[in-house]
Amino acid sequence: MAGMETTQLDTELSLFKYDNLEQLPRSYRDLDAGQRTDRIEAALAELGDDVVILGHNYQCQEIVEHADFTGDSYQLSKEAAAADADYVIFGGVTFMAESADIITDDDQSVILPSMEASCPMAGMAEALQVDTAWAEITAATDDDIIPVTYMNSYADLKAFCAEQGGLVCTSSNAHKAFEYAFERGDKVLFLPDKHLGENTAHRLDMEEEVVTWDPWDPAGKEPAKAAANDIILWDGYCQVHERFREDHITRLRDQRPDANVVVHPECRREVVEAADIVGSTSTIIDTVESAAPGDTWAIGTEVHLANHLARWNPEVEVLPLCGDACMDCDAMRQIDPNYLTWVLEELVDGRERNVIEVAPEEKELARVAIDRMLEI
Ligand code: 13P
Ligand code: SF4
Repeated sequence: MAGMETTQLDTELSLFKYDNLEQLPRSYRDLDAGQRTDRIEAALAELGDDVVILGHNYQCQEIVEHADFTGDSYQLSKEAAAADADYVIFGGVTFMAESADIITDDDQSVILPSMEASCPMAGMAEALQVDTAWAEITAATDDDIIPVTYMNSYADLKAFCAEQGGLVCTSSNAHKAFEYAFERGDKVLFLPDKHLGENTAHRLDMEEEVVTWDPWDPAGKEPAKAAANDIILWDGYCQVHERFREDHITRLRDQRPDANVVVHPECRREVVEAADIVGSTSTIIDTVESAAPGDTWAIGTEVHLANHLARWNPEVEVLPLCGDACMDCDAMRQIDPNYLTWVLEELVDGRERNVIEVAPEEKELARVAIDRMLEI
């Protein structure tokens, strides 16, 4: 990145955890799709191999169309690790960009186009809270506890897990991460998504061993119960996936007995139980892509992905599982194509905007936790 300057723009203060992140300049706010596409393509032609764009499956159509690689969190972390471009532009949310910064080389920069793309679930397990819970739980038991954190968490929590012998997982390998942990300890503390944790416990036939730890409710923190169970679930959740309910599936099956249902494992237990298939966003894509023409699939995940699937597979009938009530992810939506235009044109002019840089002391440890996941 020699020769690049990082100039401060005159922008409003952000509540975001990275205080170097900047808001979109006014001149970029009203670009239309045609102008954007021309400018993005021109900037990409200029930047050539210096830039790679990674796009999560929940990104809007324009971002997905400009991405060099799209995928689920696991696939994108592998693409980030393999990338040799100077700049990795992340179409996703902060914890994904942080993870990319952790696994790319020090001379590569990871850019998150918009500063507001923060996953609320990742914010539900703050390292300070987790430290307190850890002290309370470990004081109540002599068992060895291995912490496992979902990728949807910040770097400091990943670093904490590494320090305690634990690791990171994504929705596609949570069961393997639990197995890794149980080979090395007696109990798992899983953070922050209780639904993914519960669904994983079921997959491993350990549903009787589950207790929830609610850090916000004094009555929801019971060290004795934690000591008596093998899987302790942090009481976090994704509001996009909590929206799906069992009766959405029951009603669908009444009205459309021919319809199949695929859902993400961040959905509630009873929803996963009632679905035909459960899996990460890439499993959901594979399911629809391998469906026979004329099949009907209802999709229990973020609505952008349901819309992409309908567009990409016109021969399959794709329905959002809860119809108009299906949500898009507010955090993912912040990666507006105007922001992509801006960060690319700034790079062409020699300026890096919205660079995600994990603190070096966290980076090293968090990398251990991610590497453990990449090896399972
Ligand atoms: P995937 O890893 O399945 O893509 O999920 C990421 C996510 O944030 C789901 O809400
Ligand atoms: Fe976070 Fe849910 Fe959005 Fe995934 S869909 S990024 S878990 S808020």
